[in-house]
Formats: sequence, structure tokens, C-alpha cells
Amino acid sequence: MAGQQARFVLKLRRNIALEGDLLLARMEVEAFSLAGVRGVADIKSVTQDIPGLRRLRGFGRLDLNVRENGIQAYVAEGPLTTLPDLIRRLSFVQRIYCVTARTAEALELLNELEEVLGPVLACHSNEDSLIIEAIPHYALFEFSQVVARRSKGRIETKQNLSAVLDALLGRTDARHAKSLAEAALSARSTTSHLSHDIHYYKAKFFPRLVRSILNICTQRLGDGSHRVIDNFVGSGTTLLEAATLGIPSLGVDIDPLSVLIAKAKLEAVQIDSRLLAEESAQAMQALEAQTTGQLALFDEPLHEVGKAPAIKFPGWLMKNRKMTARVAAGLQQEIRGVQSVVARCDPQVAGLFRVLMSDAIARKIRMRFLGTGVGRFSLTFAKPSIAQIFSKSLARYVKVAATSEWLRQTIHLEFADAQVVRGDARHIPSRSGGFDILMTSPPYLPASSGRESYAKARAPSLIALGMTTHEEVDSLADGSIGSMSGDGIDLESLSERERDIVEWLLRDELRAIKAKPTARYFLDMRRAFAEMRRVLSPGGYCVVISGKQSTFYQFSTRKALYTVQSALILAEEARQAGFEVEGLHDVQLVKLNRNARPRSLDDYYETIILLKSPDG
Ligand SMILES: C[S@@+](CC[C@H](N)C(=O)[O-])C[C@H]1O[C@@H](n2cnc3c(N)ncnc32)[C@H](O)[C@@H]1O
Repeated sequence: MAGQQARFVLKLRRNIALEGDLLLARMEVEAFSLAGVRGVADIKSVTQDIPGLRRLRGFGRLDLNVRENGIQAYVAEGPLTTLPDLIRRLSFVQRIYCVTARTAEALELLNELEEVLGPVLACHSNEDSLIIEAIPHYALFEFSQVVARRSKGRIETKQNLSAVLDALLGRTDARHAKSLAEAALSARSTTSHLSHDIHYYKAKFFPRLVRSILNICTQRLGDGSHRVIDNFVGSGTTLLEAATLGIPSLGVDIDPLSVLIAKAKLEAVQIDSRLLAEESAQAMQALEAQTTGQLALFDEPLHEVGKAPAIKFPGWLMKNRKMTARVAAGLQQEIRGVQSVVARCDPQVAGLFRVLMSDAIARKIRMRFLGTGVGRFSLTFAKPSIAQIFSKSLARYVKVAATSEWLRQTIHLEFADAQVVRGDARHIPSRSGGFDILMTSPPYLPASSGRESYAKARAPSLIALGMTTHEEVDSLADGSIGSMSGDGIDLESLSERERDIVEWLLRDELRAIKAKPTARYFLDMRRAFAEMRRVLSPGGYCVVISGKQSTFYQFSTRKALYTVQSALILAEEARQAGFEVEGLHDVQLVKLNRNARPRSLDDYYETIILLKSPDG
């Protein structure tokens, strides 16, 4: 049995729009023990080699829901025993076709697979060959985002997920199930599945990117248990992806709000959906009562709302002309209303409630920092109230919890342990050599526009959560790499490339303010790389995602003045810290926010810096 071979056709998700994703998709497929991996642009042509595939019908049809341009599938050969891993781990594939000889052993494996991986397979056989169709687990995670959105509550979400899986594998003809499956297959963007969108967060990883990189690294490392660390964990994308792959992980971040978000992101997929539904219903009722003025007499804490001290916004926010005294008082009242509900919830859902409140505040009060580091920002307010945004999120998270329960029950998904601690990447609070994979994305250059805003933009949330006061909020970002304080810098210790940009900034009157913070950024990253090297085991992989480059433009004409090769600079720092640089891969991103940068129609690339800790 061990030697039985199979041919695999791995049909890519239709919504892969970027060449960078294709690159990762291919690297991921190649990382599994498969031979002769080749991309096919016309998936139908595969039937010349494997005629049996021509007979497939329904959602199994080879050419249904395929990418419109470019590679539609990868074709490869390898041991049949690779199939479970492909189903459990592949990130970019919507359907696996596996063709193998019809042996007793193959049939036995199939039976076992269904028990271990859930009802994600369908099998067709003729006299001597078997065609197995399988829906990869990750495709189901992504589909669940679409299904949950179209479902009413926790029970319906679970029913619809089962219906979609049945429709995809031809087990039902129900129109409702088929139309949901169609919607799931053709969704344009699927980056917010499970709890990935728990809080508004700029500069988040794309989940598929993280997952494929974790797969590539674990495959290259070979058998054994692995541990992952993200030392700039942010909203916790790496940890959630590692958890679904069964890899234990640790996240570190200096920002207390990020720590809270990352923790809640992981808790949200473990919460009992019934409890959450009850708690959410109570919370929504209480919020509704606040707006209609019908507070229940016995509702002690709601009466307390009026007595609680109002939260205060920082002086610089109060100075904005849109933040009139009346507007501020209204917002403070809204925040206190939600705070009172959050204060009363069951401790098991408290982390989630707090993070969703913070998210609602961040979505209501929107600050966008502009210019060259002098703290200028535009302020806008979303139309719905904070309570409305919060209630909508609660309803969504009941469905997230239900989805996660369905995945645990149906495909036996188990979440590996993940811890999040507040700490400094320049002094990682962990022993040496304790991790095999480090996957991270540090803050980008402070020199690029608006970088100083990290803590400021979250000030109202942080204050509402009781994590800081309106007076202290500005100092919260001090330990952050790339914050705007840049004292005590030794410019002499910079590399030539680094010094060049710092000196250029110093010469530019409007940008001189960013010179020292930029120098400090490089030196902080130097310390961070030394720490990253320390905590990785010999032979371990370190993957850093960074903007490829930052370009400075003349303000009036938008003419490009200077381009910083950020990724090259970071790779050089990593090499100096003792890492082997295995490669730099540029990944083009779609820019959704065209106002984000000057000349924002220019292509924008991120770079995957692939590093290795030398073997011991
Ligand atoms: C680009 S974000 C990471 C986003 C993350 N990859 C995600 O998917 O959500 C960078 C993070 O680095 C954190 N950070 C900045 N300075 C730090 C330091 N000295 N130590 C640890 N974390 C730091 C910031 O708080 C921020 O959360």
C-alpha cells in the first residue's frame, strides 16, 4: 500500500487574482512530496491524460468555476498517502481530483479518510481505477465566510454549511444548497473567515499567505513537532492559521490592544455558540432599551451608566474642528452605553465583547494620519452608532462560533494551543532555540506617510478599554519600533544604504522630522533580528514580510524623488544577524484604498524575505 501512486489535479480557487498568490500556491504544492508538478492553463486538457475526469458532473465538472486567466490547476503525481495531508493543509485549492488504481488498500484508505477528515470526499470507480474528489479543509473555511453571511443564526449556519458540502460533492440537488455553493465558489474575496476580521486592523496578513508559508516551512523541516512564533503578532493572523494547522504558537506584541485582539481572535473560535447567542441577545436587548429609554427597573448596572465617569478623549482629538463639544458628548454617551453592557457579560465571552466594542469605536471614529509626522489627521464618523456596529458584530460572531463548532464536529478540526504575551521584539520573552518557524511582519518604515499614528488612531478604543488614559495615550507607542521618538541615535552605526536615506531625509526640510525615527527603526530592527535568531532553533525558518520599497514624491508634482529599498535593507540586517538569506520573493498586492498613497495607482509590492537559521 505504502507505494501506491496517484495522479493529482489540484484545481485552484477561482478568486486568486494575483501572481504572488500563484507563486505561493506553486511553492506550497511543490513542498509536498509530489513529482512532476506542472501548472495547466486549460484544465480541460487534463482529460487527454486522464479521460475518466471527463465524466464528472455537477460541481465536480473539471472546468466549472475556474480562474478566468492563467494557471487553473496544478497537476502532479505522488504517493496516494499524500492525499490526507493535501486535503488538510492546501491553501489555494478548491477541489482535489485524485486518480489511482482500484485496489483493496486504496478502498480501505478511503474509508479511514472519511472518518478522520470528515465527509469531504466523493468517490467514483470503474473496473480498475478510482477517482476521488475532495474539498480541502481550507476551502471550507473560506466558503464558511460566505455561508455564514447568508445564514440567520447559529443553527441555520450549521445546516447551511452541511448543505453546501453536500451540494459540492453531489449529495443533494436542493436548489438552496446549490445556490449557496455557487456563491461560495464565486466569492471574490475570502479573507475574513473564522475570526480573522475580529477588529479593524491595518497592515494585516492575508491568511492564505501565512498558511501557505507555514506549510512550506513545515514540509521543508520534515517530520516532528514544530513551534511557531510571531514576534510582531499584531492582530494574530499567524497564530490563528498555525492553530488550524495544529501547530502550537506564541505571539508577542508591544501594543496591549494588539495582544487583546490576538487573544480574542483565538478565543472566538473556541466559544460555545449557544452561550454566545444568549449573551449577545441579552446585550442587544439592553442596548435597544438604552436607545428607547426603556431601562428595566431591576437592571442595576444600566442605572449605573449615568453615574460612571465619562471617558475623556485626548486634547489633540478634542482640538479637531469636527469634534465639537456636542459631538464628543454624544460619542462618550454611546461608548458608556456599550461599556455597561460589556461589563455585565459572562466572563467566558468578555474578551470577545471587549474587542468587538473596541472595533465598533474604531469604526465609528475614523482617523487617518496624513503628511510628514506632524500629527495632522482627517477625522470622519461612520453613520451607524457604536451600539449598532457592536450589535451587528455580535450577531456575526455567533455565526463564527457556530462555524467553528461545525468544523470541529464535521471535519474534526482541532485548534492547537496559541499564547499571546505583551513584550518587546527587541527582548523576546522566551528561551533560546525554542521555535522552528518564525513568521512575522514588523512595522513599516516610519519615513513612509502617516506611520506615527499607530497608537493615536486607536486612542478612543484604548481609553474605553481602560488600557490608558487620555493623558498617557501618546506615550503608549514609545516602545514601538518605528515610533516617532528618535533620540540617542548613533548614525555612524548605520549601513551605507540606511545612512543614505537618513541623510536624504535630513536634507529635506519637510521630511527632516522623520530622519531620526527612521534611523532608530533600522537599529531597532537590527536588535529584533538578533533576537529572532536567538529564539529560532538551528535550521529553523524565519519569514519576514515587508513592503518592498517606499518612494517619496514631490508634494506638488508627485514626481518620484527617492526610493528606499526597504526589503533589501531588512534582508541585509538579517544576514548581519547571522541568518542565511534563502530568497526574496516579491508579491504584488491589490490596492483597495487608492487614497492611501500619492500616485497610488503605481503597483505595490510586498516582499517575502525567506531566511534560515544555520544548521547547528
Ligand atoms: C504590521 S503589524 C503586524 C500585523 C500582523 N502581521 C497581522 O496579521 O495582524 C506590526 C506590529 O508590530 C508591533 N510592534 C511594534 N513595535 C514592537 C516591538 N518593539 N515589539 C513587539 N511588537 C512591536 C505593532 O504593535 C504592530 O502590532
